[in-house]
Amino acid sequence: MANRRPLNLGTVISVRGSIVDVLFEKHLPPVYTLLRARKESQIAIEVLTQLDAHRVRGIALTPTEGLARGMAVEDTGGPLKAPVGREILSRMFDVFGNTIDRRQPLSDIQWRSIHQTPPPLMRRSTTSEIFETGIKAIDVLVPLERGGKAGLFGGAGVGKTVLLTEMIHNVVKQHQGVSIFCGIGERCREGEELYRDMKDAGVLPNTVMVFGQMNEPPGARFRVGHTALTMAEYFRDDEHRDVLLLIDNMALRYSVWIR
Ligand SMILES: Nc1ncnc2c1ncn2[C@@H]1O[C@H](COP(=O)(O)OP(=O)(O)OP(=O)(O)O)[C@@H](O)[C@H]1O
Ligand SMILES: [Mg+2]
Repeated sequence: MANRRPLNLGTVISVRGSIVDVLFEKHLPPVYTLLRARKESQIAIEVLTQLDAHRVRGIALTPTEGLARGMAVEDTGGPLKAPVGREILSRMFDVFGNTIDRRQPLSDIQWRSIHQTPPPLMRRSTTSEIFETGIKAIDVLVPLERGGKAGLFGGAGVGKTVLLTEMIHNVVKQHQGVSIFCGIGERCREGEELYRDMKDAGVLPNTVMVFGQMNEPPGARFRVGHTALTMAEYFRDDEHRDVLLLIDNMALRYSVWIR
C-alpha cells in the first residue's frame, strides 16, 4: 500500500457478548471504523459510538471467543467494505465479502464501503411504474413499484422463501436484471439449497448471494444487509441495470442492544 498510515492501537477494556469497549490513548477512531484484534486478527469489531474522548463501543462481527481485556486492537483506518463489480455475479459471500461457495476466491476486485449516503432527492425518479413480477396474484392485487420497497409478512413455513425464489427467477429470465439474495438469520441448510436451486434453474449467472446465517453472531447479521445493499447499488448506479434485492428476513433480527 502506497498510502501508509501510522499504526493506531487500542486496548480492549470490556467484552460483553458481542459488545466490545476499546480504549484509544491517542487517536479515537470515527464511527463505522473497522477494528481488528491484533493477536486474533480474525476478530473484527465495528465502532458504533464514541463513549468519550478515549473510549469507543463497538459490535463484533465475528465470535469474540479468545478476546480478553487488555488485548491490543488495531484501527484498520476504514469501514467494512463489500466487493463490487461484474465478477461478483454467480458468487456467494459472507458479510466481509469473502466467497463462501468453495470456488476460486476473487482476485483484483473493487471494494466499496458499506456505508454510502443515499442518492439525493433530486436524483430520484418521480414517475411511478409497476414492476411486473410475472406472478399474477401479486401484479393484480398488490403490484410492486419499480424503484420501491415492499415487505412480505407471513408465519413460519408459509412459503415466503419460495415466493422470493420465484421472483428471482422471473427478474433474471424476463427482465435481464440482476437479483441479489441476502439471507439473514437463515437456517444453515437454506443457503446451500438455494444455491443449488438457482444453479438448476439457470439463473445463477445473474444472481449474487450474501449470507449472515443463524450460526453467525448478531453483528454479522446486523451488517450483512448493508453488504448486499452496496452490491445492489453498484449494479443500479454503475451498470444501470434493474436490480431486485431480496432480504430474507428482517424480523427482529436487528434487535441488538447497545447501552
Ligand atoms: N406455492 C406453494 N405450493 C406448494 N408448496 C409450497 C408453496 N410455497 C411453499 N411451499 C412449500 O412450503 C414449505 C415452506 O416454504 P418456505 O421455506 O418458503 O417458507 P418460509 O415462509 O420461508 O418459512 P420460514 O419462515 O420458516 O423461513 C416448503 O417446503 C415449500 O416447498
Ligand atoms: Mg424462509
